[in-house]
Amino acid sequence: MVHEAQETTQSLKVIDEARQGSVLYKEEWEKTASVGAKRFYIESYGCQMNFNDSEIVAAILYEAGYLPTRQLEESDLILINTCSIREKAEETVRKRLRVFEAVKRRRPGTLVGVLGCMAERLKKRFLEEEKLIDLVVGPDAYRDLPNLIRGAESGQRMVNVLLSREETYADISPVRLDSNGVTAFISIMRGCDNMCSFCVVPFTRGRERSRDPFSIVAEAQDLFMRGYREVTLLGQNVDSYKWQNPETGSIVNFAQLLEMVAQIHPRLRVRFSTSHPKDMTDEVLYTMARYDNICKYIHLPVQSGNSRILALMNRTYDRPWYEERIRAIRRILPDAAVSTDIIAGFCTETEEEHQDTLSLIEWANFSMAYMFAYSQRPGTLAARRYKDDVPEEVKKRRLNEIIRLQTAISLRHNQADIGKTFEVLIEGDSRRSDCDFCGRNSQNKMVVFPKKEGYKPGDYVYVRIHDATSATLRGEIV
Ligand code: SAH
Ligand code: SF4
Ligand code: F3S
Repeated sequence: MVHEAQETTQSLKVIDEARQGSVLYKEEWEKTASVGAKRFYIESYGCQMNFNDSEIVAAILYEAGYLPTRQLEESDLILINTCSIREKAEETVRKRLRVFEAVKRRRPGTLVGVLGCMAERLKKRFLEEEKLIDLVVGPDAYRDLPNLIRGAESGQRMVNVLLSREETYADISPVRLDSNGVTAFISIMRGCDNMCSFCVVPFTRGRERSRDPFSIVAEAQDLFMRGYREVTLLGQNVDSYKWQNPETGSIVNFAQLLEMVAQIHPRLRVRFSTSHPKDMTDEVLYTMARYDNICKYIHLPVQSGNSRILALMNRTYDRPWYEERIRAIRRILPDAAVSTDIIAGFCTETEEEHQDTLSLIEWANFSMAYMFAYSQRPGTLAARRYKDDVPEEVKKRRLNEIIRLQTAISLRHNQADIGKTFEVLIEGDSRRSDCDFCGRNSQNKMVVFPKKEGYKPGDYVYVRIHDATSATLRGEIV
């Protein structure tokens, strides 16, 4: 996922009272740009949390006098916020570094910095492997960026990959880089304390810590004031959110945080990601049921449908537990959609165990899934303990079977919506045509519909569905 630059003019087209804040912010940047300040360019890969981190980095750099640019060629500082989750993600980053190298050759003096998970994983070694890199900065060290940049400007190659037990960047208000002005992400915690055996995240992001709930509510309130109508609360495992008030000792859990954010305004939609099957409580489900503005959508990664494989993955739940969680969702939130993540071909997975994943997918009726072939990551438990013994072509074939099945189920799921009417929050023009708007329903399905006089991004509309593919619903405003 590359940060796709959205035209600034697009957000300027839709100025209304409430949105002026965010628009002015961008204009202000453009005005100061002429003064001759230094420019930074940032590109992000990986999960939403990484994209959100880039917005924190932008805020830190802005404070230090840097301005953002979308032009590589005019940047004094090129940053790439990286992901290590699968080998392919890292390969993509290496390829981009070749492009930056060429820019640097044409513009000597341009600094190149690597941020994020790959920086954390490779640390100092990155400098040995990549001669063009000036800065290597881990996800908990972004406050040190101005200092590190100064060092790099004086010709040193700088590294800070210290992980922290406390850092949540709670006081930093992210600069919304490529925003549609309607939906935004808010990180509510950092790191991860689970040790899923396939996963590199605990090593690249460090220990789990929760952010002060009042700073989260304040950020969401500010977004609402600036015209935003949807926030997604982010964490690797939102259900283990837990904040203790240092003065009173009282605790805020995820269900309570969700409620605090939902109470900001009935017109502010609340989403969250990611839920972990072992931690998702009925209390969260009942809180969702009580508030219309908490979207009826849960991303609940299962990874595998086989209990032996789940144990090897160290997911700490088995298939019956996962099925029980799905039943609880259906009982408490009958109209909720559930999506998932699946890994095909984990160490020692047999053909029968793969069939278990297919049968679970069929049973669970997921609206959508992110599906991956297992990619061994250096340093993880699985890499140390198990053999990556499923041949690549078997992994690929199993993954294709999973994708084929899930695509058919997504289509069936979407076709069942034909004839229904949904409340949709307009996000902007559809990707295919500027005669159409797109937006999501509560179940997180993308809905495309023809524009109509008087409606604009940020508005809620009722859309009646008349057509569906496996990825989108089509309809008309009613
Ligand atoms: N915290 C989330 C997952 C974050 S990573 C959770 O626990 O659900 C997103 C997804 O990437 C995971 O759910 C998993 O399906 C996939 N993934 C992680 N490591 C992987 C690996 N080594 N190979 C293939 N897929 C992987
Ligand atoms: Fe990785 Fe597991 Fe943590 Fe998710 S819960 S980030 S898969 S270790
Ligand atoms: Fe990738 Fe790091 Fe996110 S490894 S998925 S960017 S936490």
